[in-house]
Amino acid sequence: MEQVAVVIGGGQTLGAFLSEGLADAGYKVAVADINEANARQVAGGINRRYGEGRAGGFQVDATDEQSVVALAEAVDRHFGQVNALVYSAGIARAAPITHFQLNDFDLSLQVNLVGYFLCAREFSKLMIRDGVAGRIIQINSKSGKVGSKHNAGYSAAKFGGVGLTQSLALDLAEYGITVHSLMLGNLLKSPMFQSLIPQYADKLGLKPDQVEQYYVDKVPLKRGCDYQDVLNVLLFYTSDKASYCTGQSINITGGQVMF
Ligand SMILES: NC(=O)c1ccc[n+]([C@@H]2O[C@H](COP(=O)([O-])OP(=O)(O)OC[C@H]3O[C@@H](n4cnc5c(N)ncnc54)[C@H](O)[C@@H]3O)[C@@H](O)[C@H]2O)c1
Repeated sequence: MEQVAVVIGGGQTLGAFLSEGLADAGYKVAVADINEANARQVAGGINRRYGEGRAGGFQVDATDEQSVVALAEAVDRHFGQVNALVYSAGIARAAPITHFQLNDFDLSLQVNLVGYFLCAREFSKLMIRDGVAGRIIQINSKSGKVGSKHNAGYSAAKFGGVGLTQSLALDLAEYGITVHSLMLGNLLKSPMFQSLIPQYADKLGLKPDQVEQYYVDKVPLKRGCDYQDVLNVLLFYTSDKASYCTGQSINITGGQVMF
């Protein structure tokens, strides 16, 4: 039976790239996103490229318990099993702490952390039911290991993701299910990073067109993180070659973070 991967937040940017990369690696892919049209579009592209039935597009609000339960049921009906869960949904709201709105802080926790908890809970149940030695991968950030100025909500949620990953790894080890967080450097060309450039320029006292270079200069390997860098590491940790690893928070930062 072909392996099945679920990508939460698969409707655009990194999640879409990882969905396509997993399909290219031989997985059937459930592309799930709060934006249903985007999820269906990504799944449609995979089906056109790799053959009808390789992917399905699903709507989910990962922060809503009933929506996640319904997604797990729908994916189970459609594909019959789940081997890998990739939680890529995320949101970043930046402001200095004195102006940080509670609803923005709460939204950061909901999308970056609570959604990960709900999806890991529901999809691990399917893996356990089927005796699948599955893989759960959270897309995290270097902001989950070091604090991030004006990003209190995002950083707090991503730090929480590391604790959740380690706890899930302990809960699920007896079933052979492994769990990791991937701690990314800045995806400089992504809409998320680009949308933050005005605030970063403000906080750093730079012109907006100087911000990308400022972030490149912080990286020992002197470039931003590419979607392909993330896919490379993801495919290793979803493979059998990583069967003796669990609970890790793996840096993909060009050397910017080393612990
Ligand atoms: N962009 C960067 O520079 C960067 C750096 C480090 C880590 N990351 C992490 O990478 C991941 C992907 O980031 P991206 O740049 O592709 O972001 P993005 O905003 O382009 O994509 C996020 C996706 O998540 C979906 N989503 C948002 N809320 C959701 C919800 N409640 N339920 C389901 N889906 C939801 C969005 O619709 C979108 O398709 C995030 O976890 C982010 O924190 C990004």
